[in-house]
Amino acid sequence: MEKNLQAIVEEAKKKLDLLNSKPDWESYKATILGPKGSLTVAAKEIANLPNEEKPKFGKAINQAKNCLEEIFSNSLNKIEEKADLASLGSSIDPTLPPPSNFTGGTHPLTNTRRKIVSIFRKVGFTVAEATEGETEWFCFDALNTPEDHPARDAQDTLFFSPDSKWTNIKRKKEEAFILRTHTSSVQIRSLLKEKPPLRIIAPGRCFRRDTVDATHSANFHQTEGLYVDKNVTIKDLKGVLDFFLKELFGEKVQTRLRPSFFPFTEPSFEVDLKAPNIGKLSDQWIEIMGCGMIDPKVLNLVELNPHDWSGFAFGMGIERIAMLLHGIDDIRHFYNNDLRFLSQFNYSS
Ligand code: PHE
Repeated sequence: MEKNLQAIVEEAKKKLDLLNSKPDWESYKATILGPKGSLTVAAKEIANLPNEEKPKFGKAINQAKNCLEEIFSNSLNKIEEKADLASLGSSIDPTLPPPSNFTGGTHPLTNTRRKIVSIFRKVGFTVAEATEGETEWFCFDALNTPEDHPARDAQDTLFFSPDSKWTNIKRKKEEAFILRTHTSSVQIRSLLKEKPPLRIIAPGRCFRRDTVDATHSANFHQTEGLYVDKNVTIKDLKGVLDFFLKELFGEKVQTRLRPSFFPFTEPSFEVDLKAPNIGKLSDQWIEIMGCGMIDPKVLNLVELNPHDWSGFAFGMGIERIAMLLHGIDDIRHFYNNDLRFLSQFNYSS
């Protein structure tokens, strides 16, 4: 009878090796350890044994049972492991690209601003900054744009109360606070702070009550430039801007000054460029910035004698330059924070 028990164990060892699923394992287990299983049936034989043989047989049954439980449990582990591996195997696709290692980086407008600033630094310009909240006086009046001037309408913007806690600049009551419409206000702030000769570049954020579309945004960025010294002429203006645009768009870029109007420069121009490497727009003249010689009225206002001093100023949109450099066709991409767009400008690992 003990041999019978051993046979059950040996048989189970062999059979369990062939099983692959938990249901098979469960039904096989029932045939041995279940209420009608072979071990259970064999164990009942104990009742028919003479008393002196019972303890020995009882011990053999317990051993067989322990042994069976162990091999059943090992077998179940193996079956489950195999099932886990099989399910993992089917979800790993070795042809998929590795997970992105994009860790973030600078915004394309920041990159463009840095590029612009670094070019002007090469020819002696330093960076000046001012606040985005501004007074009407700095933004318009001091730039020869009085209250009834039509140029103000074109730059309508957001106004807020002069006693706003938003800024601690204290100005006269009648000077309402606005969000600056251009960086030209930095011209006046710089000229009141420092005596010429002066060469500054002033990048920053501007605001206008523009209706948003592919080329307009109520919130955008400009870079102002200002050069004041003795005997500064239009030649100097053209020379500096040509140098800048060649550094930015390549040696083959062509530029032209087209007469225009700004209240604070006289004469005033729009700068157009033609660059062979800007894709679809390569064969067109494209307006890139406004500029001009500083109006004597502005110099007088900051107490510089126009007979002694002269200068030029220019202002450009950073978005527009970034769009031309990268072939971007919609200004709204810059503000949507879509990583599919932003990650194209950064290759950090
Ligand atoms: N501030 C002008 C604008 O926003 C640009 C400009 C700057 C023109 C400096 C002339 C000189 O349109």
